[in-house]
Amino acid sequence: MSSALSLSSRFHIRILPSFLSIPSRLRPAALRLLRSTPTGLSLSLRNSERRSSLRTFTIAASGSSPSPAPKMVKAIRVYELGGPEVLKWEDVEVGEPKEGEIRVRNKAIGVNFIDVYHRKGVYAKETPFTPGMEAVGVVTAVGPGLTDRQVGDVVAYAGNPMGSYSEEQVLPASVVVPVPPSIDHKIAASVMLKGMTAYVLLRRCYKVEAGHTVLIHAAAGGVGSLLCQWANALGATVIGTVSTEEKAAQAAEDGCHHVIVYTKEDFVARVNEVTSGNGVNVVYDSVGKDTFQGSLSCLRSRGFMVSFGQSSGRPDPVPLSDLASKSLFLTRPSLMHYTATRDELLAAAREVFANVAAGILRGRVNHIYPLSDAARAHADLEARKTSGSIVLIP
Ligand SMILES: NC(=O)c1ccc[n+]([C@@H]2O[C@H](COP(=O)([O-])OP(=O)(O)OC[C@H]3O[C@@H](n4cnc5c(N)ncnc54)[C@H](OP(=O)(O)O)[C@@H]3O)[C@@H](O)[C@H]2O)c1
Repeated sequence: MSSALSLSSRFHIRILPSFLSIPSRLRPAALRLLRSTPTGLSLSLRNSERRSSLRTFTIAASGSSPSPAPKMVKAIRVYELGGPEVLKWEDVEVGEPKEGEIRVRNKAIGVNFIDVYHRKGVYAKETPFTPGMEAVGVVTAVGPGLTDRQVGDVVAYAGNPMGSYSEEQVLPASVVVPVPPSIDHKIAASVMLKGMTAYVLLRRCYKVEAGHTVLIHAAAGGVGSLLCQWANALGATVIGTVSTEEKAAQAAEDGCHHVIVYTKEDFVARVNEVTSGNGVNVVYDSVGKDTFQGSLSCLRSRGFMVSFGQSSGRPDPVPLSDLASKSLFLTRPSLMHYTATRDELLAAAREVFANVAAGILRGRVNHIYPLSDAARAHADLEARKTSGSIVLIP
């Protein structure tokens, strides 16, 4: 006695009664195996829930031709939130692109502090997940109906959907942008998310102009170094804070006119001194808890406080009245909200890549790790051992 089950329009199997004895929970896996196996399959499954011993089911398969085996790639997976050790190197299945999607083989993957927040659970994400919000890669497959992308295109993306810590991934075509051929893959991966963030901060949250004085915390970091280069090119007087003398040297090279080692000096007093008591037009604060209150003190009347990160922890709540003494503006921007439309995304990427091509932005790829070693990259980033950008190579 046998019954037939349609798997796809191309492929049918005859199921022996033994298939029906496979626990229903395990049937999808059995069917997946069956799809990729030639006619006549002996299938072994262990039912761990019931602690039963290994059982073998024999299933006869027949059909025109089996679908190709699922494509497996290596990726970093997170099953539980925690320290860098929760980043696991595993085989994962990467599907075929559906309508509006492309599959991309990643060449260089940017590491960002937001990956640390996701891993630790600072920003809620359901487990398991593959972390990563930025990559540059080559298109390997194009979903049905898509005409403006081709296999072989070099593309970059930054933001959602999360999942770039993978050798290959499927993405909505609407989130990727073409990478100009003159720009190296690693440089592109180091400036996509961080450079577009710098663009949003300097050109859209608060428009920096010649004659402004700006304070940039973590000035030797990934975003920080690009902010310094760009603010300097815009004609601003740039004050940067860093934790070490080595980072101070890099920040000076990147265009900081005044560098403050905030682990040794009181940055509020030094900003006061440098600005002759006038304060700065704008503070770009990604450090958060440790710097937030001091940053407010550094602002001049009607100054802009741009709080865009929390590398040292969430800042304490601010009573509105704290802004009243100098009529201050406070904003907490997210890149995603400024690149929400396709036009905004393309405009941001265009400006970043144009500035890279013009030599205004010099992506500092100071740290390169194999993708499998993402845990070490995270540990170094959190320990403040890194400067510039970190790139993972699959
Ligand atoms: N809002 C957005 O859309 C957006 C987009 C991108 C990035 N960000 C934020 O921008 C910040 C920078 O990101 P990134 O990827 O370029 O990282 P990063 O700046 O390269 O690394 C973080 C830096 O923060 C400084 N820091 C100060 N206190 C720290 C602490 N307790 N623990 C760790 N680091 C500390 C360190 O520099 P020193 O050693 O010099 O102190 C460290 O190198 C992050 O806060 C990130 O969340 C926000």
